[in-house]
Amino acid sequence: MSSGTPVFLAACRGEPVPYTPIWIMRQAGRYLPEYRAVRAKVSFEALTRTPELAAEVTLQPLRRFALDAAILFSDIMTPLQGMGIELTFEPGPVVREPIRTRAAIEALRPLAPEQDVPFVLETIRLIRAAAPRNVPLIGFAGAPFTLFCYLVGGRPSKEFEAARAFLYSDPQAAVRLLDHLADAMAAYLGAQAAAGAQALMLFESWGGLLAPPQFEHFALAAARRTLSALRSRGVPLIYYLNQGSALHERLAALEADVIGVDWRSPLGTVRRVLGAGKAVQGNLDPAALFAAPEVLEREAERVLREAGGQPGHIFNLGHGIWPHTDPDAVARLVDIVHERSARGEPGA
Ligand code: CP3
Repeated sequence: MSSGTPVFLAACRGEPVPYTPIWIMRQAGRYLPEYRAVRAKVSFEALTRTPELAAEVTLQPLRRFALDAAILFSDIMTPLQGMGIELTFEPGPVVREPIRTRAAIEALRPLAPEQDVPFVLETIRLIRAAAPRNVPLIGFAGAPFTLFCYLVGGRPSKEFEAARAFLYSDPQAAVRLLDHLADAMAAYLGAQAAAGAQALMLFESWGGLLAPPQFEHFALAAARRTLSALRSRGVPLIYYLNQGSALHERLAALEADVIGVDWRSPLGTVRRVLGAGKAVQGNLDPAALFAAPEVLEREAERVLREAGGQPGHIFNLGHGIWPHTDPDAVARLVDIVHERSARGEPGA
């Protein structure tokens, strides 16, 4: 690691680090009383559209915990509002007119980030001005297929029946919509990097619903389109795949530096499948934060051991932190990960 490179960025590039960096998906959110205090006064949507407030809640967890990265406070659906999609957060996203026809796909506007989501770019500038230098800012977007699920399905769902049926009933139209979303997210993430985001992450929360051939043909092809367009930005690219255990072998050739892994797949296995060129991020079960301190410690050590004590591991949860988590458990987790990994145990 060259001196002065933040530990998180070095780990993304697979360089040796003095300790394993940690950040937590949804680290700004309802489990923090200071977040709830802000949300008591404004809606979630207003919060994402007011740069001073979005920057403030992004910084809140950094004041409490020695986290190694910040993540922009926004939502995967926010840029779609900029493309003319009407939606509300209840609290999950609900699309007023789900997209089901070729005409609706053709009517979608391309995204022009500076005009359509200037508040996101301003939020990034405010965070960069205020965040500690050794805590890089992660920008993010929804992966095209995950956005497709909400756009076609219309609301949160376990199976996303309408979206998955669409892949089979009109595959060409589905690819057209996915390509459109892939290009919009490439423009969106490119603008985030230009505004100061130091790593870029795609959330593929629903890719794990697909069988391998459909995952490859629809979800992965579209994600690849987004990531390829971002390669030249020179910042680490992270692809988080939820429920991906049957799909990891397909990710070895993806243009991402880091693969985010849910808690169902042991990191050792994932690393073997991905090969040496990729870093991994994860993958503690969010439920482990409800365990007794010694059990949490044992589980965190197990994740470190699975990661193998090799460079290229960023500690995280396998999915977003739950709203009723005790913040003190997060404080304990951050300390355990830093202390154990700095001592070089139990990795080796
Ligand atoms: O701290 C952070 O991680 C950054 C903020 C962030 C939010 N959403 C804020 C949010 C991030 C990275 C997201 C990503 C996101 N949004 C994903 C991908 C990750 C995942 O969870 O799989 C998805 C699928 C969404 C869509 C979405 N937005 C859902 C399903 C929900 C409701 C879920 C819930 O926790 O209730 C939202 C709303 C949302 N996005 C909230 C927050 C803090 C809750 C809003 C509130 O405060 O009322």
